[in-house]
Amino acid sequence: GAPVEVDISKLEPGQLIRVEWRGKPVWVVSRTPKMLEQMKEHEGQLRDPQSQEPQQLESSTNDYRSLRPEIFLAVGICTHLGCSPQFLSGGFGEKVEGTDDGFYCPCHGSKFDMAGRVFQSVPAPLNLEIPPYTFLDETTILVG
Ligand code: FES
Repeated sequence: GAPVEVDISKLEPGQLIRVEWRGKPVWVVSRTPKMLEQMKEHEGQLRDPQSQEPQQLESSTNDYRSLRPEIFLAVGICTHLGCSPQFLSGGFGEKVEGTDDGFYCPCHGSKFDMAGRVFQSVPAPLNLEIPPYTFLDETTILVG
């Protein structure tokens, strides 16, 4: 599939946009300072906080799993059995324990933080996949 250009000039903090790349949904999220803060507190609750599992792109193994801390890209497919996780920007609320923002898979209850890192004791085995991407300029991303 061809690379996909994404214009993020109108992406507001806390907002998620969805694009399609190679038939897969790709999320582009503008993370707020609060989201970035929350992520630091998750280390001990995550299955693979440093993204050491194989087949991770180098750009996805830093603390933020992204090229720029505030901009996060991930393939929006649950690593358990492929459902579509929901973006819960108001926190997980009553669905699952915890009030932080993240992604929740309704199929079997898997939970990922704002870096797509999977929490312990949910069925998904791996962190969300990060697609290859580059910044063409300040507000344009090339996915693929
Ligand atoms: Fe997401 Fe099973 S497919 S938890």
